[in-house]
Amino acid sequence: MNKSFVCPWWMGYMLLFPLRSLVHNPKKIVSPYVKPGMTVVDYGCAMGYFTIPMARIVGETGRVICFDIQQIMLHKLLNRARKAEVESRLETRLISGSSADYEGMENVADFVLLFAVAHEVPDQEKLFFSLSNMMKKGSYLYFAEPSGHVSNQQFLRSIELAKNTGLTIAIPPKGKKLAVVFRKVE
Ligand SMILES: C[S@@+](CC[C@H](N)C(=O)[O-])C[C@H]1O[C@@H](n2cnc3c(N)ncnc32)[C@H](O)[C@@H]1O
Repeated sequence: MNKSFVCPWWMGYMLLFPLRSLVHNPKKIVSPYVKPGMTVVDYGCAMGYFTIPMARIVGETGRVICFDIQQIMLHKLLNRARKAEVESRLETRLISGSSADYEGMENVADFVLLFAVAHEVPDQEKLFFSLSNMMKKGSYLYFAEPSGHVSNQQFLRSIELAKNTGLTIAIPPKGKKLAVVFRKVE
């Protein structure tokens, strides 16, 4: 698997910078979709900027399944989750490029978050197929990309790939923000 464009591990600390919430307020972004007891997926979770708030919302009966390609991100995430007393609600999965990456994940997710990750993934077609496969019927996928790294055209191309996997647009992109919400209807 090509790792050349992957965000360096130390950037994980910068993604946790508290002022980030002025632009990306995690609770505000996920709370329309994430509810207590849900199983949610944080794909490309890094050190858990969104994971910990989602773990708090799903509560003791819910779980957050966290995927990343870097073990160090998952390690730091678990340390943070332990301190926040939500570790038992998390499951971490290291992406290795093997068929075991998504084992047991069919039709389990009530919500998927894909935030600032897809542009680092060489095979987006496979990515969206895998995510769509994890989603339950009626569930949502929140997909966002950083406009500094991704052009509008590239974002639209990603949207088409997602639509090819059977996802439909529930909330279209607004203005210059590269964010869209998909729903799995079938
Ligand atoms: C820019 S960070 C975004 C982290 C987090 N979603 C956020 O918004 O704070 C991208 C993350 O995606 C991970 N990543 C890159 N390629 C990946 C892949 N193929 N599968 C899973 N995670 C990947 C990186 O290791 C990194 O932690």
